[in-house]
Formats: sequence, C-alpha cells, structure tokens
Amino acid sequence: MLEGSLRIGSAAVPYRYGTDCADALCASIAALRPASAVLAVDEAVLAHAEPLLRRLERRMPVHPFVIAPAEQHKRLSLVESLLDHAVAHRADRTSVILAMGGGLVGNVAGLAASLLYRGVRLVHLPTTPVAAFDAVLSLKQGANLRAGKNLCGAYLAPSLICCDLTWLATLPRPHLLTGVTEMAKNVLAVVPGRKDAFREALARLPKHPVESFDALCELGLAAKAPFLATDPHERNEALVFEYGHTVGHALESLSAGAMSHGEAVAWGMLAAAEVSAQLGLLDQADVDSHYALLSALRLPSARTALGDVDRAALAARLATDNKRGHIPSPAGSVPMVLLRRLGEPVTDADGRPLAPVPIEIAVEAFEKVAANEVI
Ligand SMILES: NC(=O)c1ccc[n+]([C@@H]2O[C@H](COP(=O)([O-])OP(=O)(O)OC[C@H]3O[C@@H](n4cnc5c(N)ncnc54)[C@H](O)[C@@H]3O)[C@@H](O)[C@H]2O)c1
Repeated sequence: MLEGSLRIGSAAVPYRYGTDCADALCASIAALRPASAVLAVDEAVLAHAEPLLRRLERRMPVHPFVIAPAEQHKRLSLVESLLDHAVAHRADRTSVILAMGGGLVGNVAGLAASLLYRGVRLVHLPTTPVAAFDAVLSLKQGANLRAGKNLCGAYLAPSLICCDLTWLATLPRPHLLTGVTEMAKNVLAVVPGRKDAFREALARLPKHPVESFDALCELGLAAKAPFLATDPHERNEALVFEYGHTVGHALESLSAGAMSHGEAVAWGMLAAAEVSAQLGLLDQADVDSHYALLSALRLPSARTALGDVDRAALAARLATDNKRGHIPSPAGSVPMVLLRRLGEPVTDADGRPLAPVPIEIAVEAFEKVAANEVI
C-alpha cells in the first residue's frame, strides 16, 4: 500500500493506493464518520464498486448515483441532479460525496461537494490513470459550459483519496494512453531523473498493468506534490503541468473527438520542444529525448495523425488558447510552457513557467513535428 498525506496549500490530504484493498479503503472512509454517503459512480466501474459498496453499507447508508460519463454530460445540470439526489436521500453536513470513476466523475462530484450546503467532504476513488495520478492530485473541480471545457468550477480539497490499482486495469487502451502521456509530460517537464522508471513502467504495462500503475502512481505523486504545496490553485509554478497542452488542446479540439487527449498532448509536447529549440532555448539532444520517450507510446505515425491538419485552423485555435490572461501576451502570440533543459521551464519575472510565442512560430514547430521521421 502506497499511503501518506499530500499537502495541497493548507490542506493535508490523506491518500491510500493499494491492490485488492476494499477492506482497507472502506475502513478509511468509515474513519471520516459520515452520517451517510452519496456514491457518484461511473457506469463503467459498477463491478469494481460492488465489493466496496457491500462493505460500506454495513457501516453507513450509501446512496449510489450512476453517471454515464461523456464530456457533453459534464454540465451544471448533471451537478444539480447529483445535488438533488443527495438532498432527496437526506444527506446532511456530515455526509460525504464519494467520486468513483475517471476525471469526469471526480470533477462533477467535486463541484457538487463544494456546493452542497456550501461544502461537504469529498472522497476520490479514481479508476483511470488520469484521475488517479493527475486529476485527484488537485483542488480543481469543474463542469463544461456550452462555450467550452471546464469553464466553470470551484476549488475544493478532497478529504481522502483511495484507490485500488486493480480498478484501472479494465480501462481501454486509448484512455490508458492519456494517463501515460501525462506521466511522460511529468518526466520531460518536471522530473527527468525518472525517465528510466517511466520507460520500465511503460514496458510492463501490457503484461503487468498493476505493477506498472504502482510505478506511475509514484511518478505522479513525486512530480505533483511539491507544486501543490506551494501553488495549490495552479496559477503560478504549477502551470508547468500545462506543458504540451497549447498545441495539444488545439489539435484535440480540431479533431472533434477523433484524437484522444493523450495523443494530442504528446504531439503538443513535441511542438513545444521544437519551439523551444527554434528560440535557441533547448538543445537538440533534449529535443531528441522527447522523440525517443514519446515514440515508446506507440502513437500513430505523425504523417497519418497530423498530415491533414489545416494550418490556418490550427493558428485560429491557438489564438483562443485558455492560458491567455495568465501572462500578458501581445496580439498574434500564445502563452506556452517552454523548456531550456529537460525539467527546467522558462519562467517570467514572477516565476510563472509561461512565455508568449508568436503563433507563426508555434505553427512552424508543428509542421516540423508533422514531418518528423521518428514517429
Ligand atoms: N485537475 C483536474 O481536475 C483534471 C485533470 C485532468 C483531467 N481532468 C478532467 O478529467 C476528465 C478526463 O478524465 P479521464 O481521462 O479519467 O476520463 P473519463 O472520466 O471521461 O473516463 C473515460 C472513459 O473510461 C471509462 N472508465 C473509467 N474508469 C474505467 C475503468 N476502470 N474501466 C473501464 N472503463 C472505465 C469511463 O466510463 C469513460 O468512458 C476530463 O473531463 C478532464 O477535464 C481534470
């Protein structure tokens, strides 16, 4: 069992990551002494929830609320339905909301927990690598608006994070890739010393997924923990976790769902590395390390994945990137996380790891990635 306490700003968040550990997880939840629990659960993980539910129901009333996760459902209307469900089942201020599923369920249940009676306790039970090693290590809770992803939300620290790593093993490959890519990002932008550990975890993933998750979990905690302690709202130095997400978000949204978030971020990191090199910040050996590490993810070839991307449409998407406003950026530029060495972002005078990049340079860098012969 990997357990400890994570400091997120002033909050100390206990976490427990184990295998086949329903009894231990149930005991940790019961130790919060809630009057009752509302279990917001992803419909894809009901089989994983069942052993936990059986144990919890011996200790407290539990009211499941099943969510069919899709980004178009991640709306305030879903949050409201969850709140209505909690109140209809007489949840009180000592009740807990349990969020069992991927990042989507975690965000929706987290937003509901921040709103119910102006705040009840939240327990994360993540079932995807994105959720387990990234999204739950955050205060950010949110929902989508018609105009875009995660445009409304709140900050709430979970009271507990509990994860049985065997839950993650049933996730289909494209979703697995997203979590693994976020860990590759941690290696390239934050903890390059863990490159070998990451490669080993990746090699073990097909045959020994749970051992692999164990290593990826350590990597996620090691990368994120120091930043959450000092920048819990992820507005300053923790913006480094946006590495690859500028060109990545643009590609993801242009593909209208055809390209996974993970794949898009992988191409986005290569583009960020090429921009960094073009601006004379990053040397070629570190750019090559990006290609070497990310080729291990077995992405489709760059020509197949990127050949048809419309350059003008890409430039237009970059111009509306959601990091605008974090730093002043002149017209025609987009804020990006750039590196001067692996694990060493370029920072502004206030220590924020963002730099304004002329959009035509970002597009040129993308073209280099699209024409590369390695991936
Ligand atoms: N800091 C943050 O708050 C943060 C960080 C990263 C992502 N997010 C959010 O998280 C969401 C993405 O999360 P995600 O990648 O976990 O995807 P997800 O929650 O959308 O789940 C992806 C798919 O996997 C299924 N699934 C979940 N667990 C499963 C399991 N163990 N076995 C089989 N199927 C399973 C779900 O039903 C769904 O179809 C986005 O909405 C994103 O905005 C938030």
